[in-house]
Amino acid sequence: MDKITIVGAGRVGESTAHNLAKAELCRHISLIDIKEGMPQGTALDIQESAPIFGFDTKLSGHNELGAMSGSDLIIITAGVPRKPGMSRSDVLDVNVPVITAIIDEAVRSAPQAMILVVTNPVDVLTYVAWKRSGWQRHRVFGLSGVLDSTRMASFVAIETGFSVKDISAMVLGGHGDTMVPLPRYTCVNGIPISHFLEEKTLARIVERTRQGGAEILALRKTSSAYDAPAAAVATMVDAIQHGRRRVLPSVAILDGEYGQRGICMGVPAILGSNGMEQVIELALNPDESAQFVRSAEHVRADLARLKLD
Ligand code: LAC
Repeated sequence: MDKITIVGAGRVGESTAHNLAKAELCRHISLIDIKEGMPQGTALDIQESAPIFGFDTKLSGHNELGAMSGSDLIIITAGVPRKPGMSRSDVLDVNVPVITAIIDEAVRSAPQAMILVVTNPVDVLTYVAWKRSGWQRHRVFGLSGVLDSTRMASFVAIETGFSVKDISAMVLGGHGDTMVPLPRYTCVNGIPISHFLEEKTLARIVERTRQGGAEILALRKTSSAYDAPAAAVATMVDAIQHGRRRVLPSVAILDGEYGQRGICMGVPAILGSNGMEQVIELALNPDESAQFVRSAEHVRADLARLKLD
């Protein structure tokens, strides 16, 4: 990719820009935010770290959405974040017009781009973005599972004392309190974690994963998580830029998979040079299926409120 635009130069946007630049995942990063001087200052600050880190990626900051023109990928982090005590759905009404304006500009000036939505509630807003763009579903997807899974893997590492290098976790469903962490698909070098951890500990890990974002927000009070989210975004961008065809849980528009249609949810997907290339359907047991359906109902309730059709 030649040009990646990040809309929203808040903490997630800034940290994402730095990660992408350090890994040289494109030649040019355009950072857009409505706050005057802010994206320009952030872009310059990151640019000045280039000689130390040794990256040739160029950064620029802008206040107009038109600066996304010709982008290969548009990452949307703009919008109002939640405050302690709020759910991700509570910020939906404020963030829909923000996403809509960004998508309209993308359709106008970056018609070949892919879109990666990070703003919450991410499942609903990814659906809004897809619907508004009219683009094929492989070009419009969202972040959640890579973030939720890295949190779950971190908690498994804490509980077992094993290296994170050997741990892979899987989290499906909506990115909210109803997300579906899957201990059955979480392994230490291929060995299911049930081999090492008791039911009680697994239940604790599942709950802590569900509350992962809220835990950070409750501690920081004035800021949601941004380090782990930005690292997760960079992982997805790396998979696309290098055409790796990685299997990463991502927010994808479902078209019959998992018995769902007309909805966006976190599912394992193949990420490669064409974006979200394929949804992978896992065999869920009755309990996991019930949790997935419950999560879908939650996302559907938010979507119904927006009356998109
Ligand atoms: C979190 C926010 C980004 O999970 O949803 O930290």
